[in-house]
Amino acid sequence: MITIGVLTISDGASKGERQDVSGENIRALVTQLPTAIVSAGAIIPDEADQIAATLREWCDSKHVHLILTTGGTGLAPRDVTPEATKAVIEREAPGIAEAMRAISLQYTRTAMLSRGVAGVRGRTLIINLPGSPKAVKECLEYVLPVLPHAINLITEGPREH
Ligand code: MTE
Repeated sequence: MITIGVLTISDGASKGERQDVSGENIRALVTQLPTAIVSAGAIIPDEADQIAATLREWCDSKHVHLILTTGGTGLAPRDVTPEATKAVIEREAPGIAEAMRAISLQYTRTAMLSRGVAGVRGRTLIINLPGSPKAVKECLEYVLPVLPHAINLITEGPREH
């Protein structure tokens, strides 16, 4: 079984001003992995401390295998998801972010504006997806088939913590 946390990072959606379509897209797409279940979910504002605290809790207490974030990866002053993610990961997995940007550039040049990162904390893989529902679909569909293998690699061997 693969346990997944879906974290929507959006000032508007966290206040209930906007529907969380991107989070819903993630939940729909991960059903393509037969053994995946979404066991954690939240919608939070673009606040680095809150993002980092949620990521730490889901890694260290809930022990989810995979956290998919959406939003806050761009260049606007309040886009701090990559910084908060870098603060909690122990090892970066740059290839995942590179692959998402590469495939995204085939759809739109604005893909170059996403600063999303991916990396590992403990036994959890964290991936930043951009914020729009369209971007979520384009990025996640591409990397999704590789994620079971990535999670196998992360979870094999003796547990350090
Ligand atoms: N990637 C894909 N595949 N499709 C898109 O439409 N939009 C881009 C980019 N990545 C996009 C994409 C845009 S317009 C922005 S500003 C950045 O993601 C950052 O988005 P975010 O700040 O909502 O995370």
